[in-house]
Amino acid sequence: MALSTSAPALAGLRPVLNALPALTRALVQPASAAATTLFGNVEQAPKDPILGITEKFLADTNPIKMNLGVGAYRDDNGQPVVLDAVREAERRVAGSHFMEYLPIGGLRDFISESVKLAYSDDAAVLREGQVAAVQSLSGTGSCRLFADFQKRFMPGTKVFIPEPTWSNHFNIWRDAGVEFAKYRYYKPDTRGLDMDGFLEDIKRAPAGSVFLLHACAHNPTGVDPTPEQWRQLSRAMLERGHFPLFDMAYQGFASGDCDRDAASIRIFLGDGHRLGVSQSYAKNMGLYGQRVGCLSVVCDNKRDASAVESQLKAIARPMYSNPPLHGALLVTKILQDNDLKQLWFKEVKGMADRIISMRSLLRKRLEEAGSPLPWGHITDQIGMFAYSGMSPEMVDALAAQHHIYMTRNGRISMAGVNTKNVGRLAEAMHAVTSGKL
Ligand SMILES: Cc1ncc(COP(=O)(O)O)c(C=O)c1O
Repeated sequence: MALSTSAPALAGLRPVLNALPALTRALVQPASAAATTLFGNVEQAPKDPILGITEKFLADTNPIKMNLGVGAYRDDNGQPVVLDAVREAERRVAGSHFMEYLPIGGLRDFISESVKLAYSDDAAVLREGQVAAVQSLSGTGSCRLFADFQKRFMPGTKVFIPEPTWSNHFNIWRDAGVEFAKYRYYKPDTRGLDMDGFLEDIKRAPAGSVFLLHACAHNPTGVDPTPEQWRQLSRAMLERGHFPLFDMAYQGFASGDCDRDAASIRIFLGDGHRLGVSQSYAKNMGLYGQRVGCLSVVCDNKRDASAVESQLKAIARPMYSNPPLHGALLVTKILQDNDLKQLWFKEVKGMADRIISMRSLLRKRLEEAGSPLPWGHITDQIGMFAYSGMSPEMVDALAAQHHIYMTRNGRISMAGVNTKNVGRLAEAMHAVTSGKL
């Protein structure tokens, strides 16, 4: 509101006084026009590196476009798959009168089947009641629950994360307020495991650190330690008193055999480690959107397991109260019924085998396209992704010139490759790499 004074002495000051309210606003608020609204100073968050690719893919109107960014399984026609075992479990669950809240820790039978799948039916730690476990919101939710548990009950410890890793790992531990560091995992020269660097970093890390390990099908590199290397890593971590946390997002999906893919965990268990396991049924049962997973922690005894489990529930309660029911019922139906379980084993092997065969075909097509580069790593790697070695600029060229989308680290989701598009993918890769990686 403008000032109205008639005093002649103030007359000269009138323009300044009239401008005061605006001046005051300018001093307490940022200059941008947007800042005049309640959330005007909230900046756009950076796009998620993986989900941002899907947005670009959707915006591309060319019908030949290919999305090899997101890690979701597709059949040979590029279509999403609902497993027969899941369909049958849904039929059995349909019409169930049970729609109540689950307990905070989730569905009891689901949890006991999940830990058996991870540790094996006859694991001593299960018999002895040493395992604390809760149902979680898929693999991401398991990792986050553990990260919050680490913050509260392993004070001052850091988490060591492989370089490279699934990009969300950093966000999870950062948001939980846990300090993280990287350990050497992948050697670009050999496109294999940096075993010496890994062992050295285990030795150098402060005793009692948490080491985040991919149980199988390492994302994004597709490079897994051999059983003998896992044994060496286990011994090295035991010596330093580190706590291994296995992120197992792909059990069965790597080799087609759920026991073989859990070998790393079982080697560590055999060595007497206290450890954690994050399980997800997103990929191996195709239950992506159901958000169904399990977090378990192997403790020294039954008392500790009970205390840890109670604290995991105390962390979950204010975050989401209790986990979702439907997916957990499906998994339980499958794992409790031997026929359904065998059908699922067959189907998960089918998915793993299709990916393995696409690796061979992609390599063959690259060679047929005349690429002089050594593409052996594509068939040496395992799991959903091929870590191609292509640079961010090559990936950009694939998108701009060939309508093929993937993460800028050159990671190809092999689940999106099929007999119809593999030839075009190989030609395009040959074109953008033009003889060098
Ligand atoms: C290594 C790893 N951990 C965890 C996840 C989380 O998966 P979800 O939360 O869908 O179970 C993924 C998914 O891509 C992954 O690759």
